[in-house]
Amino acid sequence: MKEEIAQIQSDALTAIGAASGEQELDEARIAFLGKKGRLTAASSGMKDLSKEEKPVVGQLLNATRGAITEALEGKRNALQDEADRAALEGLDLTLPGRPLHPGSLHPLTQLGDRAIGILRRLGFALAEGPEIETEFHCFDALNTPPEHPARNEKDTFYFDSGKLLRTHTSTVQIRTMETQPPPVRVIAPGSCYRRDEVDKTHLPVFNQLEGLYVDTDVQVGDLKGALEFFYRAMFGEETEVRFRPHFFPFTEPSFEIDARLRLEGHDPEWIEVAGCGMVDPAVFEEICKSRGDELYHPDKVTGYAFGMGLDRLAMIKWGIKDIRLLIENDARFLTQFA
Ligand code: PHE
Repeated sequence: MKEEIAQIQSDALTAIGAASGEQELDEARIAFLGKKGRLTAASSGMKDLSKEEKPVVGQLLNATRGAITEALEGKRNALQDEADRAALEGLDLTLPGRPLHPGSLHPLTQLGDRAIGILRRLGFALAEGPEIETEFHCFDALNTPPEHPARNEKDTFYFDSGKLLRTHTSTVQIRTMETQPPPVRVIAPGSCYRRDEVDKTHLPVFNQLEGLYVDTDVQVGDLKGALEFFYRAMFGEETEVRFRPHFFPFTEPSFEIDARLRLEGHDPEWIEVAGCGMVDPAVFEEICKSRGDELYHPDKVTGYAFGMGLDRLAMIKWGIKDIRLLIENDARFLTQFA
């Protein structure tokens, strides 16, 4: 029996050594160690042995099983190494890796987030309204009569339904006051649309940020203070801000705001950055009619509103000379803001 076991071991090691793949190796394992394998069959001969022989042969059987198992393991590792080496053939691990190009936020997004962050510190909450608007919310409620040039077909995108693409975010002033009682202090960033010829400073789609603050005693000084704070926080402490008298149908008095910033390599010049003013009593009257109550009666509340062009702010902040760069999505331009 000892010779038989020795023979099994030697046959097994030969078969394992000759196996050229996982499958052949597994077949060898089954042939020798499996339930019906040769070593298992040999073990069943134990019962016919004498008391003295049993432990000796038992030990031999164990040692043989151990040797075959070890050989199987060793061969499996060798086959795996071979497969790994073959997979790496022709691969030069010393070559530099391919660079990853992580994306970054669009400059307009960065600027919008920053503007919102500053205004939140002043107590403004976010508000929003639809981009497809009624004439009422875009014009009538904002004291802009039908004959006003902004309502001309040549200046505004109308739908057959009579609705239009909002020409400014001032629509959100109306939407907010219709649905919330005073006091309100909101900002509304969003897209606006006008039939403008495309050039370095005009696109038919652009972005504004509207602000509205209504309470019992809001004054021009509050407006100036808030916006001066805003532009200094945005562009730097040294930024100068000036208010020029202007006209908007929905504010009285109205102003345009210019800012003068110190940018390296540029002579400081005044740049128009926003329109603003005190909410016109005619707007409050329209809101009272629309709400069916007197909460916004012009004898009870006052307020200020402002609207700034976000594209404009981005152009100023980074010295971008052509607004079209903001929508062309050219990676050479965008990666500068990563
Ligand atoms: N809606 C005006 C515009 O688009 C800006 C503005 C907003 C003016 C609020 C005054 C108050 O030009």
